[in-house]
Amino acid sequence: MRRSIIIDCDPGVDDCIALMAALGSPKELDIRAICVVAGNVPVETCYRNARGVLALAGREDVPVYAGCERPLSVEPAFADHVHGESGLGGAVLPDSAAPLSGLHAVDYLCETFGNAAPGSITMVITGPMTNLATALARDPKIAAAVDELVIMGGAGTEGGNVTPHAEFNVFADPHAAEIVLNCGRPITLIGLDATLQFRCTANRMQRMLASPHSAVAAASDMIAHVNAVYGEIYGAEGAALHDPCTIGYLLAPELFKVEMVRVSVVCDNAERRGHTAVQAPSSISDGAVIGWVTGLDAQPLFNLLIDRMERL
Ligand code: BDR
Ligand code: CA
Repeated sequence: MRRSIIIDCDPGVDDCIALMAALGSPKELDIRAICVVAGNVPVETCYRNARGVLALAGREDVPVYAGCERPLSVEPAFADHVHGESGLGGAVLPDSAAPLSGLHAVDYLCETFGNAAPGSITMVITGPMTNLATALARDPKIAAAVDELVIMGGAGTEGGNVTPHAEFNVFADPHAAEIVLNCGRPITLIGLDATLQFRCTANRMQRMLASPHSAVAAASDMIAHVNAVYGEIYGAEGAALHDPCTIGYLLAPELFKVEMVRVSVVCDNAERRGHTAVQAPSSISDGAVIGWVTGLDAQPLFNLLIDRMERL
């Protein structure tokens, strides 16, 4: 079945790769809109990057809406030390000639979900959850239109990547994550426990460099930068491709191992800000019950995503 989806993101290298894989999957995914939010880089930069991906893909028919410029309560945190100042690593994307949209992403979400049939739209979130949280705070009834939320965020056994306790998307806006994770709709959360199993290793990089396709060439220019940063900061072989896991999950859920868990978010403790406590559903009384991805089949997932980018 073709799913109607909205992608909310903060592109960002791995967000761009997620967008390209989604755009290369028109039979399965009907992308209604891309919303952007401040996260890896400021929201204006995310807006330009999302439009650049659409220009590269020849898909400027997909609208892009700029959303929240800052988190709900905490001070903004960016990740340009990983993604580069442009958010695109070493890649340069074409300028988009599409008209600019004046509609705020939160207004778009309220209007679209407000007018949609119950359970009719899937939302993918690969950045801080500020846009949807703001929309839900304004009108909690819009949650009914959500079929499923597929979110990259959080960490269980892996601890964190911004601090020892927290993953970036939840750290960047823990209060938003708390609202979204408790919205009452089905959620699949793909955190570091899974995404750190999905790395752009030297072999996979070679595969990308050998591709004659412009989208994959742009993706390898992006990843080369992040791979170098990962090597320096974490001493790791190959950057984790966090955000594309969300699209991979929609396309091929059989490649992912999911357990039902209870997740609660630490909001008001400076040291543990953005920590996600992931527990068996019966072990604690608070926190939302959601699907938590614990594992994935990395090589078929990589092949699938590259194949989809090569269709652009
Ligand atoms: C998440 O943080 C961002 O830097 C990435 O784009 C991804 O969404 C991983 O922690
Ligand atoms: Ca992201």
